[in-house]
Amino acid sequence: MKQDNTRTAQLTLEGNVYTLPIVEGTMGEKAIDISTLLKETGYITLDTGYKNTGSCTSTITYLDGKQGILRYRGYDIEDLANNCSFVEVCYLLLHGELPDEEQLRSFKSLIERFALIHEDMIHFFDHFPSHASPMSILSVMVNSLCNYYPEMSNDPMEDFDITSTRIISKIRTIAAFSYKKSMGHPLVYPRNDLSYCGNFLNMMFDKSVRPYVVLPEVVAALNKLLILHGDHEQNCSTSTVRLVGSAGVNLYASIAAGINALWGPLHGGANEAVLEMLETIYADDSNFQKYINKAKDRNDPFRLSGFGHRVYKTYDPRGKIIKKACDEIMNVLDVSDPLLDIAYSLEEIALKDEYFIERNLFPNVDFYSGIIYRALGIPTNMFTVMFALGRVPGWIAQWKEMREDPATRIGRPRQIFIGETAREFVPLHNR
Ligand code: CMC
Repeated sequence: MKQDNTRTAQLTLEGNVYTLPIVEGTMGEKAIDISTLLKETGYITLDTGYKNTGSCTSTITYLDGKQGILRYRGYDIEDLANNCSFVEVCYLLLHGELPDEEQLRSFKSLIERFALIHEDMIHFFDHFPSHASPMSILSVMVNSLCNYYPEMSNDPMEDFDITSTRIISKIRTIAAFSYKKSMGHPLVYPRNDLSYCGNFLNMMFDKSVRPYVVLPEVVAALNKLLILHGDHEQNCSTSTVRLVGSAGVNLYASIAAGINALWGPLHGGANEAVLEMLETIYADDSNFQKYINKAKDRNDPFRLSGFGHRVYKTYDPRGKIIKKACDEIMNVLDVSDPLLDIAYSLEEIALKDEYFIERNLFPNVDFYSGIIYRALGIPTNMFTVMFALGRVPGWIAQWKEMREDPATRIGRPRQIFIGETAREFVPLHNR
């Protein structure tokens, strides 16, 4: 970040002119630095939903919502999705560079070393009701990891490599175990001869009575999806991880908080909501127009799940890649899904509709991802867990960046109070 001393912003307040510095990022994004505004003027800024607030500077992910560009550490998302393994992308996000062969080998071996979870933790699964949400199980289990692997409590940065790979590895085992438990099936333990994604699929679907065949095409599709979810700068769950972490809490607890934020249907939970929406439309004689009209009706809370984005005002670049991957995997597995046809038709109608055009509402990452997960055999209530598996390296990288940034202070927004002014206390017997 550089401060542009040739340009400043002038703010006139009650007849006084204040000069505010302008800062510029490496891609030319500009910001007015208001960090001294309160001290100098007595005013704060009000920005509900943080639509116009930069909460940090970052070197991890670049996103241009107008042009539909997404890059991790300078690499285009399409290049990464088409050429890398998810583990390579984890390394890139955490360390800032793509690994060479030796770095990749040792990073992988750490992930393999940490694949098991403490046997005592396996009893936790027995105490959730069978209908428990896998997202709640995931956050509870990740939060609990600090009790079994507490190194981070002392010096968070010293054990960073160990703790970060531990989370990336164990979250996959936890996710697969929670599925097995929900099915009442015996657990399948990790196998280090398989890739990160192959291992996950095997833990999910292998049965002693019917061994699971790990198809390379299925592994490739999952690998791509996880890469596309790897990071997305200061979204709701990532901001949560940073905010919680800024209080000094350990990495496990910060990631657990991120999982909870991701759960919401306006955020990661949208992939589940999309599938439920497509199923509803299918059951309603594929009456697309009815649902488009509902989405446009201000008096109806219904929204087209998987459409719209706070930052993208064009087609989500991840959505484009996922749509193509969706076609490919359907062909490879030789399956057809009526929900995919509904998704295509819905997209076509919405993209021609004035309401969606005016508001720049395009399909986002979640619109087609659920259809791929469904084709891979992953149940709908696990979709957001899949998103979390992909997002975990991004959360960790952002947490580390926050912790290492000397500018970091505890996150503490202000407010404008609009409640009662001072009132005289009334004792209980007089109320
Ligand atoms: N269907 C119908 N109308 C919509 C939709 C939608 N999916 N999304 C936005 N709008 C309308 C909204 O009603 C508003 O209209 P008006 O200007 O007339 O009041 C306008 O578009 C702007 O919407 P907003 O809610 O102010 O925009 P936002 O930036 O606060 O919200 C969003 C972004 C993603 C929460 C929203 O587009 C949405 O709810 N989409 C559906 C849920 C979804 O797919 N979420 C996944 C997002 S991508 C992955 C992720 O972040 O996890």
